[in-house]
Amino acid sequence: MARRRPLIAGNWKMFNTGPQAAELASRLRSLVSDVTHVDIMVAPPFTALGIVAEILKGSAIRLGGQNLFWEPEGAYTGEVSARMLKAAGCSHVIIGHSERRQYFGETNASVNWKIKAALLGDLIPVMCVGESDAEREADQTFSVVQQQLEEGIKGLGADEVQGFTIAYEPVWAIGTGKTATEDQAQEVHEFIRARIEAACGNSIANDLRILYGGSVKPGNIAGLMAMDDIDGALVGGASLDAESFAAIVRGSLDA
Ligand code: 13P
Repeated sequence: MARRRPLIAGNWKMFNTGPQAAELASRLRSLVSDVTHVDIMVAPPFTALGIVAEILKGSAIRLGGQNLFWEPEGAYTGEVSARMLKAAGCSHVIIGHSERRQYFGETNASVNWKIKAALLGDLIPVMCVGESDAEREADQTFSVVQQQLEEGIKGLGADEVQGFTIAYEPVWAIGTGKTATEDQAQEVHEFIRARIEAACGNSIANDLRILYGGSVKPGNIAGLMAMDDIDGALVGGASLDAESFAAIVRGSLDA
């Protein structure tokens, strides 16, 4: 059983217009209004942050951005800064999601710059790591994750890593219906915690929340949460339906 307070986060990706996001957020708010032992966060697309922030005001559900740019402001057409996310009501920001790495050229170095910008802007980074199918097949899972971790937190002090959340999302499990087994996920989570312990010490590693992401559903959350080093989930597809996301939130306590 995980020892840290769970965080269940919904990554809405490029789904939902403002009105659709508003409906999803208000339905979710009412479905989880009695939940007190789990932290909940949703990350709508930028265009829906304002309306979702309005709807979630006064609730315990936190708001996150799906990405940011590392500069504080400037002539960077199409980009959004940490300060803009903060002002829109965000407490968290997802950084280095595999879809950003795969389609938008993000590297471990850009992830590192973005994490620094998030921390400066008083946002909690949810740093994503995870291997591709080919990397797992080639037995490179641990070396890939280690490099993503080391380069992602390069130059940061232990006190800064303390504010982090890490999400392990094996690329082959995202949107495929192919969840990592509990043991496969646990062994990478344990490895991540050990790397953070080596870099930042025992107490920071112990408190660090490590989320699993990749085809998380109401039916598999309890099994995942039963593992020692799995502290929550970053949910894609199943977070687009209020009932299933709420069921995952509740299921995270059943472990
Ligand atoms: P799915 O839950 O749709 O597999 O997506 C996982 C994910 O990428 C969350 O960030």
